[in-house]
Amino acid sequence: MIRTHIAALRAQAGSTVTIAGWVQALRLQRAMQFVVVRDHTGTVQVTHRRDGGPLESLLDSLTAESAVRITGVVKDNPVVSLGRLELIPESVVIENLAETPLPIDDRTGPEGRLDWRFLDVRRRPAARLVFEVQTTVEQAMREFAYASGCTELHTPKLMGTASESGAEVFTVGYFGRQAYLAQSPQFYKQMAIAGGVDRVFEVGPVFRAEPSFTSRHATEFTGVDVELAWISSVEDVMAFEERMLAHVLAAVAAAHGAEIEELFKVSVRVPAVPFPRLTMAEALSISGASAGQDDLDPAGERAVSARVLAETGHEFAFVTEFPASARPFYHLRPAGQPHLTASFDLLWKGLEITTGAQREHRYDVLLAQLAEKGLAPEPMRSYLDCFRYGCPPHGGFGLGLGRLLMVLLGLDSIRDATFLFRGPNRLVP
Ligand code: 4AD
Ligand code: MG
Repeated sequence: MIRTHIAALRAQAGSTVTIAGWVQALRLQRAMQFVVVRDHTGTVQVTHRRDGGPLESLLDSLTAESAVRITGVVKDNPVVSLGRLELIPESVVIENLAETPLPIDDRTGPEGRLDWRFLDVRRRPAARLVFEVQTTVEQAMREFAYASGCTELHTPKLMGTASESGAEVFTVGYFGRQAYLAQSPQFYKQMAIAGGVDRVFEVGPVFRAEPSFTSRHATEFTGVDVELAWISSVEDVMAFEERMLAHVLAAVAAAHGAEIEELFKVSVRVPAVPFPRLTMAEALSISGASAGQDDLDPAGERAVSARVLAETGHEFAFVTEFPASARPFYHLRPAGQPHLTASFDLLWKGLEITTGAQREHRYDVLLAQLAEKGLAPEPMRSYLDCFRYGCPPHGGFGLGLGRLLMVLLGLDSIRDATFLFRGPNRLVP
């Protein structure tokens, strides 16, 4: 028999259907047996009056979280608090009997839930909604990127030399020598620009060997990267990103707004474009930074977002003109302002979700900036060669998908925005 989703049962009152799901709760009483069954669409009560038959002993043998397939008649019943609907079973198949006791319950702490993540996700509709929202977010990003002329690429995650800075990079054995896990598609997306790809879009894994134990850091996360050729200034990059995010949030609000409100108590607001912009100098003064500080700390990011929200009502803020000291060698510096970069971070409700910049595409200037940062050109030869044979002006950004979801859904930690979190102390499951 075909399977009916539990959310679709209401329309089936009076007919015989088969549901498939997990035992959420069991109430085995003297005269009656009640089983609440959950699938990914909802829950329903299965009601059986004891009759001494084989169904009765089968239901008595059930345990919480067992996987079952139940065929029965859907019955309207105003007395049933769960949707005023019940299923009167005719046959029950126990596909997989769950052991008892379960390793987690409603009191289990965050680390215990991560240890048993499959049970955690199965038992909490909110946990599953995160990935449904993520799917909509990625789909909307792709829609926007494709409609804007992007080509989607998949750049290698195994590299012969460390990308970007060389710090925070994982090494792996590679046929008797060392390879590195990509900490960003940065160099490769720029290589694609040099390859004549006009606009690059990539969603892929990013690895960071950072021993950070914060709620916003993972050692492996999903990065969304964009790189645009022939830009006039970094403003083109910010304009692309703000329109992309407005499109994404409109899609999320339309598909999941009500459920997000219900399960996370957060209302999804579609942001107006353009987003507010302020310079790093302004941001530092808002955050009450100390003299010589060239970047915002987490408290500073929250202070800047709070100020922008109070003054403009906007949840997003682009912080621009980062000092060169706080940025990598490849960020372009505005003409006549060698201490600044044509770069930005995007803050959303007090958290950095993106870093972007116009890149330095002039070979000699790039070499000079590399030397200024004390980096050797030789390990980066294949990257630097991109700027020797006609590289157009370009810029782009990298956005952390987990961070975006975390802010969007008001999650306490990036651990809850990731199916299987990776951190310094977590490599399993
Ligand atoms: O700010 P990041 O390090 O910038 C880059 O990787 C540049 N190559 C981007 C560019 O095109 N200029 O990383 C980009 C974003 C951050 O803003 C943040 O959202 C996320 O990636 N991110 C992390 N997310 C989770 N865990 C971590 N350890 C993260 N590090 C960065
Ligand atoms: Mg950054």
